[in-house]
Amino acid sequence: MRKRLVAGNWKMNKTPKEALELVALLKDKVNTADTDVVFCVPFVDLIPVSEALEGTNIAFGAQNLYFEDKGAFTGEVSAPMLSEIGCKYVVIGHSERRAYFGETDESVNKKLIQAVKYGIVPIVCVGEELKTREENVTIEHVRSQVKRALVGVSAEDAAKTVFAYEPIWAIGTGLSATSEQAQEVCGAIRTVLTEIYGKATADSIRILYGGSVSGKNSEELFAMPDIDGGLVGGSSLKEDFATIVNCK
Ligand code: PGA
Repeated sequence: MRKRLVAGNWKMNKTPKEALELVALLKDKVNTADTDVVFCVPFVDLIPVSEALEGTNIAFGAQNLYFEDKGAFTGEVSAPMLSEIGCKYVVIGHSERRAYFGETDESVNKKLIQAVKYGIVPIVCVGEELKTREENVTIEHVRSQVKRALVGVSAEDAAKTVFAYEPIWAIGTGLSATSEQAQEVCGAIRTVLTEIYGKATADSIRILYGGSVSGKNSEELFAMPDIDGGLVGGSSLKEDFATIVNCK
């Protein structure tokens, strides 16, 4: 049985002071009994948020890392740095990073491998633009992103990853994919994982849906057989996040 995971992707929101206010708002409202909950926060918020989450079952995560251990990579943050402060998750290959910061399937692959090496669970984002959906090649596109992310990754390491299907047209638009659309692609991701690693490994990997998840649609989305939770942007910055986490 896969345990549900709900990850808040705060993106570039919340100063450290504001982050503490948001943690204070949410931490006693989210029920972590049946759901793994993680706040993926800006780098400067990681340490204050980690301190504020002490004594709770809520994990914290980053939104990026660099694939080298250390060195002359000005502006980057390494996996050893994140691991030392107890960071449990990292978002990799978010469509905003692919679109604005030159993230490619190749760098996503290297970052996935680096995260797993340091015991950090990568939440690997894939998803299509509206144009791709309109051309009816969504499944091919997403299959290719998943395969490229996993080049050279063993079944044992693949089992330590999480995938997030995020259709780009649904991100921040208020226009979520329908639960059927989301299930179709999440199911296709499970199929590629099965082809590469076999059923047992594929069945153990959590696949999230992201893109305008809210307290209104989470229950229906999460009820789908291949959707194991959500990657939540806008709604992770308010009380609605607790409704999403606590939904049936
Ligand atoms: P959204 O963002 O929930 O605001 O659509 C999701 C994401 O980008 O991870």
